[in-house]
Amino acid sequence: MSNPSLLILPGDGIGPEVMAQVMRIIDWYGAKRGLKFDVSEDLVGGCAYDKHGTPLHDDTMAKAQEVDAVLLGAVGGPKYDKLDFSVKPERGLLRLRKEMDLYANLRPAQCFDALADFSSLKKDVVAGLDIMIVRELTSGVYFGEPRGIFKEGNERVGINTQRYTESEIARVARSAFELARKRNNKVCSMEKANVMESGILWRDVVTEVHEAEYKDVELSHMYADAGAMQLTRWPKQFDVIVTDNLFGDLLSDLAAMLTGSLGMLPSASLGAPMENGRPKALYEPVHGSAPDIAGQGKANPIACVLSFAMALRYSFDKGAEAERLESAVNAVLAKGIRTADLLNAEGVTPVSTSQMGDAILAELD
Ligand code: NAI
Ligand code: MG
Repeated sequence: MSNPSLLILPGDGIGPEVMAQVMRIIDWYGAKRGLKFDVSEDLVGGCAYDKHGTPLHDDTMAKAQEVDAVLLGAVGGPKYDKLDFSVKPERGLLRLRKEMDLYANLRPAQCFDALADFSSLKKDVVAGLDIMIVRELTSGVYFGEPRGIFKEGNERVGINTQRYTESEIARVARSAFELARKRNNKVCSMEKANVMESGILWRDVVTEVHEAEYKDVELSHMYADAGAMQLTRWPKQFDVIVTDNLFGDLLSDLAAMLTGSLGMLPSASLGAPMENGRPKALYEPVHGSAPDIAGQGKANPIACVLSFAMALRYSFDKGAEAERLESAVNAVLAKGIRTADLLNAEGVTPVSTSQMGDAILAELD
C-alpha cells in the first residue's frame, strides 16, 4: 500500500517559518514511528502570485483535490494589500475551501495545563478544557442571495440573506456526530430557533439526523446567545458544539480565546468522504501571516504543529500519535519554554521558532 499523501502549502510571512518546524516533525514520525507520508510542497497566496500571477495555480488546486490532506501555513501580507481583489492572497485560500467543498470547520478550544494561568478566565474554569466547535463553512448568511447594498426610496439598504438547505444542515450535523463518537459522545447544537426560520429548520434537521443515525450520541440544543454566555460561564459543560457559519465565526473565536494565544490555535476544514473513506481535508493554524514578526524567528509554531496533530487524528486515524504530539507540546510548555507571544511576565527569555521546534522534537524523542 502506498503512503498517505500530504500537500504542504507554507504560504507567506511566518507561514514558511512555522511550517519548517512541522516538516521536521513529519520527518520524525517517518523515522521513529514508521509513519511515512508522501509529501509534496507548493505555493499558495502572495508567493504564488509572485510566481504565477495568481494566488493559486490550477495545478496546485488539482493536487489539493487528489491528496489525503492539505496542510497550510498562512497567506497574505502588506506587499499584496494593493492587489486587485480577484488575485489577493486570501483568494487562494478561499478557492481551496470552496472547490474542495470543505463545509465543516473544526476549531478546538483546548487548555494546556501550563497555560491555564494565561487565560483571562479563572484557572479552574479553563483547566482541562477540551471542546470542539464545528462551524458550517460554505453556506448561510455569508453566501445567501439576495445580497448587496440597494437603493430604497431615499435611502440605501444593506441586505444579506441567511439561507440553509436541509442537506447543508444534515451533512455538517453528521460531521459533528461522527466527531462526537471519537470524543465524548456529546453534541450541543446552537442556533436562534426562537427568532429565525432558518434556525427552526436547523434544529429540526439536526434532530432528525440524530434520531435516524446517531441515537447513541447525546444531543442538546441551545440558543446561540445563551451558548455564548454558557461558554464563558462554564465551558467544560460542552464537548462538541455544532452551529452555522455566522454564529460559528463568533463562537469559535470566543471559545478559542478562553485558552490563550493565537499562536496556539489549530483548525481543520473537512468535506465529504473521498473514495478511500477519508474526508477531503485542509489543516491550518487560525493565525495569519503575522507580517509584524515575519522573518525574525519569533513566531510560535505550535498552532501549525497542532494542526498536523489534527490531521493525524481526523485524516489518518492516528489518534494515539496525535496525542503523543499534543503531550509533547504540553510537556514543553510545562517546562516553561515559551515563544514571545506566550509571555506575560517580565524577565523570562523567549525561545525562537526553531528552538520551540527543537524542544518539541526532544520531547518526542
Ligand atoms: P495575524 O494572525 O497575522 O496576526 C495578528 C497578531 O498575532 C500579530 O501581532 C501577530 O504577530 C500575532 N501572531 C499571529 N500568529 C502568531 C504566531 N504563530 N506566533 C506569534 N505571534 C503571532 O493577523 P493580521 O495581522 O490581522 O493579518 C496579517 C496578514 O495575514 C494579513 O495579510 C491577513 O489578510 C492575513 N491573514 C491570513 C490568514 C490565513 O492565512 N488563514 C488569517 C488571518 C489573516
Ligand atoms: Mg473570525
